[in-house]
Amino acid sequence: MSDPKARLTIDGITYELPIIESTTGEKAIDIRGLLRDTGYITLDSGYMNTGSCESTITYLDGEQGILRYRGYDIVDLAENCLFVEVAYLLLTGELPTYDELEKFKFDMGKYALIHEDMIHFFDHFPPHASPMSILSTMVGSLHDFYPEMDLDEDPYGGITTTTARLLSKIRTIAAFSYKKNMGHPLVYPRANLSYCANFLNMMFDRPNMPYKIEPVLVAALNKLLILHADHEQNCSTSTVRLVGSAGVRLYPSISAGISALWGPLHGGANVAVIRMLERILADNRSYDKYIALAKDPDSPFRLSGFGHRVYRTYDPRAAIIKQVCHDVLASLDITDPLLEVAMELEERVANDEYFQSRNLYPNVDFYSGIIYRAMGIPTNMFTVMFALGRLPGWIAHWQEMNSDKESSRIGRPRQVYQGIVHRPFVPLEARS
Ligand code: CMC
Repeated sequence: MSDPKARLTIDGITYELPIIESTTGEKAIDIRGLLRDTGYITLDSGYMNTGSCESTITYLDGEQGILRYRGYDIVDLAENCLFVEVAYLLLTGELPTYDELEKFKFDMGKYALIHEDMIHFFDHFPPHASPMSILSTMVGSLHDFYPEMDLDEDPYGGITTTTARLLSKIRTIAAFSYKKNMGHPLVYPRANLSYCANFLNMMFDRPNMPYKIEPVLVAALNKLLILHADHEQNCSTSTVRLVGSAGVRLYPSISAGISALWGPLHGGANVAVIRMLERILADNRSYDKYIALAKDPDSPFRLSGFGHRVYRTYDPRAAIIKQVCHDVLASLDITDPLLEVAMELEERVANDEYFQSRNLYPNVDFYSGIIYRAMGIPTNMFTVMFALGRLPGWIAHWQEMNSDKESSRIGRPRQVYQGIVHRPFVPLEARS
């Protein structure tokens, strides 16, 4: 049987375009030769319908609410794995054996310090600098402090000194930025603590008030990081791939991804959700007012934490996070009025035709902030938490992009020019 083709007729000429099938049966029309063969480009603002690469890392079925990393269901991974195990899986394609995991954990401990000279950077940000701008700056500058990859000492794939360093150091940078913001002394990483326990300890331990590491918070953080670890070609991951396709090395490519994540329509939504819930609470819980505003086509207001480009059903990550949220608050005996507001808002949205007809459900960002609040993490650090989780995915995509010639071709979209075609030049003195 001949390979399936799509047929496109332009000006009476029919062109055949190859059809590519994914391992899960989705079909894509390969338009790579379209411009060459027809002189036409395609227009797809926001990449609503554009596959930018072939990938083996993450599978997402937006209709059925399925998310898998390297073939493993997110539900199983969140229930059974450590975040570092999932990072290993994303980077290498396989879950680690016991020995491989121990070695990886050891490396996480070994690389956790940051160069002491980098600590001075923190002193020169303005007092209320955003932790996201600090993170992006610091990660970009790791390039100069740890140049293995530049010196071609480090390979491009899997677990390398560069990737282990980055995974380990990012949480130190994040915690130090918080300490600097608080004006508290830095708490250095401890090799005997797990990835998540270490982070919480660096954040909250104080010389005058030793921090009691709560296993329930460590477990919750572990789940949150796993659930954020990858999400195929989202805005920040596509940014990492695009920047990397220009030949940019790992650390600055990730720094660009952190900047992309910052936006309120992407990772910054977890901050926007809490601000929105606080606003509704302070406004006498006037749900209807905010729901009406979100539905008003003349208002830019949206219900943060609802909707997704790909999911047409409940985000599978949101379902797990909602449960974790209830578990954490119950276990620590915390009553957070924002959880009540969130649940009531979700209920009203679920019964509203506008949201039903557009398949708008809670996404990953809707309940996560309430857990971070229970941990004591300030709102302006929520997107940093997302970045810590997403890092293994970004690295895996950067590596995959670099691993073959086709996908590492420099990213360079076309445009449909709609400006003035040509004008005679007007000298300055003749312009009115
Ligand atoms: N509140 C109210 N209306 C919405 C919302 C919302 N949160 N999301 C989408 N809509 C409406 C939108 O106005 C449009 O209506 P209409 O067809 O009448 O013009 C329709 O639903 C389709 O929306 P869209 O903007 O075309 O969809 P998109 O795929 O371009 O945007 C989105 C996806 C996530 C940016 C959007 O749903 C949104 O802005 N959500 C709020 C921000 C948010 O929670 N972002 C986090 C996303 S998940 C994590 C991540 O990616 O980092």
